[in-house]
Amino acid sequence: MSIRIKSKEQIEGIRKSSHLAAKTLKYLEQFVVAGNTTDFINEKAHEFILKNNAKPAPLNYNKFPKSVCVSVNDVVCHGIPGPYILKDGDIVNVDVTTILNGYYGDTCRMYTVGTINEEAQKLIDVTKECLKIGIKECYPGNRFGNIGYEINRYAVSKGYSVVYEFCGHGVGIAFHEEPEVSHVADKNSGKRMREGMVFTIEPMINAGKARTKIDKNDGWTARTIDGNLSAQFEHTIVITPSGCELLTDVYGEF
Ligand code: MF3
Ligand code: CO
Ligand code: CO
Repeated sequence: MSIRIKSKEQIEGIRKSSHLAAKTLKYLEQFVVAGNTTDFINEKAHEFILKNNAKPAPLNYNKFPKSVCVSVNDVVCHGIPGPYILKDGDIVNVDVTTILNGYYGDTCRMYTVGTINEEAQKLIDVTKECLKIGIKECYPGNRFGNIGYEINRYAVSKGYSVVYEFCGHGVGIAFHEEPEVSHVADKNSGKRMREGMVFTIEPMINAGKARTKIDKNDGWTARTIDGNLSAQFEHTIVITPSGCELLTDVYGEF
């Protein structure tokens, strides 16, 4: 098996889908507030994606029941939107994956509800920096392992742990393609990046232990093993001749 090299035309399709996914995250800002349920965020995302002639990739993917993932506080990823009411101090991840004209764009970010404590803000800041550090390793000829090596080194230096049970991934023609992009790896391990490869980096950083456990009842919700907070940011990235382009960074935050 090998990593797909996307054509110019495919990259343009993935770029359009990625831009829509990023715009969905921006649109959702107004709804991630105290008093709203996570299901309401799901409904708003679903409407917005459909209105833009796309489909939400998570819906019915391996029986996932909703259109986006909403992961609050100790939920690491794959939170299922539901009746939970957001409250002051919550930290929230929304993960949006769109299918537009058959092409996939995948991105997630953190939101804060009301006033959050300093520790939670620090975790979010470090996690965003982890994604930036991973992105610095994205250029032709570099090895995928250096992404995880640098992310882990930085997170550990700040006293945090990196989730190793979920990874970034190739994306674009399908939801999850090769390669697996680990956020913990040995230096100079893995395959080399080449122009036209498209993949995500999506570090999940925990305030406590790295281990996660999956909810027995829903089979999806991944929580930290010790109940401590977790944060995540994700971009879809294409390798270019000179480095990379962040397909989901529409607002130039990275
Ligand atoms: N968007 C997630 C990712 O970054 C995957 C969600 S799978 C789902 O890979 F089924 F939970 F939606
Ligand atoms: Co992803
Ligand atoms: Co995602």
